[in-house]
Amino acid sequence: MKVYYNYLPKQFSNNKAIFRDWEKLIKSSDFTLGKFVKKFEKKFAAYINVKHCISTNTGTDALIIALKSLGIRKNDEVITVCNSFYATTGAIHAVGAKPIFVDSDNRYQIDVNKIEEKINSKTKAILPVHWAGASPEIKKIMQLSKKYNLFVVEDACMGIGASIFNKSPGAFGKVNAFSMHPLKSLNVMGDGGMITTNDDKIAKWIFKYRNHGMVDRNNIDFWGVNSRLQPLQAIVAMHGLKKLKSIIVKRNKNAKILDNNLSKFKNVKIPKRLKNSTETFALYMGLFDKRDELLKYLIKNNIEAKIHYPTPLHLQTAAKKLNYKIGSFPNSEMQAKKLLTLPVHQYLDAKHMHYMIEKIENFYA
Ligand SMILES: Cc1ncc(COP(=O)(O)O)c(C=O)c1O
Repeated sequence: MKVYYNYLPKQFSNNKAIFRDWEKLIKSSDFTLGKFVKKFEKKFAAYINVKHCISTNTGTDALIIALKSLGIRKNDEVITVCNSFYATTGAIHAVGAKPIFVDSDNRYQIDVNKIEEKINSKTKAILPVHWAGASPEIKKIMQLSKKYNLFVVEDACMGIGASIFNKSPGAFGKVNAFSMHPLKSLNVMGDGGMITTNDDKIAKWIFKYRNHGMVDRNNIDFWGVNSRLQPLQAIVAMHGLKKLKSIIVKRNKNAKILDNNLSKFKNVKIPKRLKNSTETFALYMGLFDKRDELLKYLIKNNIEAKIHYPTPLHLQTAAKKLNYKIGSFPNSEMQAKKLLTLPVHQYLDAKHMHYMIEKIENFYA
């Protein structure tokens, strides 16, 4: 048996419905923004249950533009977690602000009990990540933002299809970012991103900013950028949105089988699942003793496990000037040594899960 990680060839093996819409698009020549992009933005805003969705070229751009729309810039500080994908911190850097890291908790999310000690007069925002498609303790983060008058910008790039307290990630913060990178729960055939907000004025600014600051063909209000979602991708996304619910159900079913079985192993630690939440399982992760040896063993047995990631952000060469060191964030450093990601995607089922469980059991026996 093979438990493969990359399901894209399967997902995109039959594209007839997408091709039909692409033909309509090609006939219309509506190649920059246009009605397909608008339609997708409306559908996505409704899905997240927010007033505005502004699509972008990537999730990284969505994060950068979200921060920029709030006026965050040089000499400002943004509090974030040290165990995310590079883009979370890269975006803070891109607007000239300083990332202030916080350690991760036992669910690999930002440790909300360690945020308050980092807040000072330079702090402008908290940027929590819905890491792996699970959610941080968002209510506590919202309380802190109120108490200290800070913006919250959610990195919901892995969170499309998740929920927490009956709301979607990306429906809590002031301006929030999503990604449709190929291995996200809602994915396109390349790159794509979205920004969500309930603020009319900010939305208006972002709609213009991501398209050169243009009011119309001959006039710009301010200097902007080109970060437009491609209409071809908006069509892929609209088709993906229809299947999203069933994808999340399948992933949760697989994850539950792993949770139920792996939590009995003394060499494995599975994170607690928050009540009142649904995860996307963009990554199914646990802490495994002898992780590196186990990874080799699983790969030898045709199980494509992965590591996300072996080096936390504060120990990356790129973070040198921030002056963190080994020991600055012990929890995330320990997790970087023990975390393993197992495939639970929608093209796998119970037999794949039991195969992985059996192999892990054999390894520790
Ligand atoms: C947590 C997180 N933030 C940001 C990004 C950046 O998104 P993109 O690859 O669409 O630029 C990603 C995904 O790649 C991500 O997983």
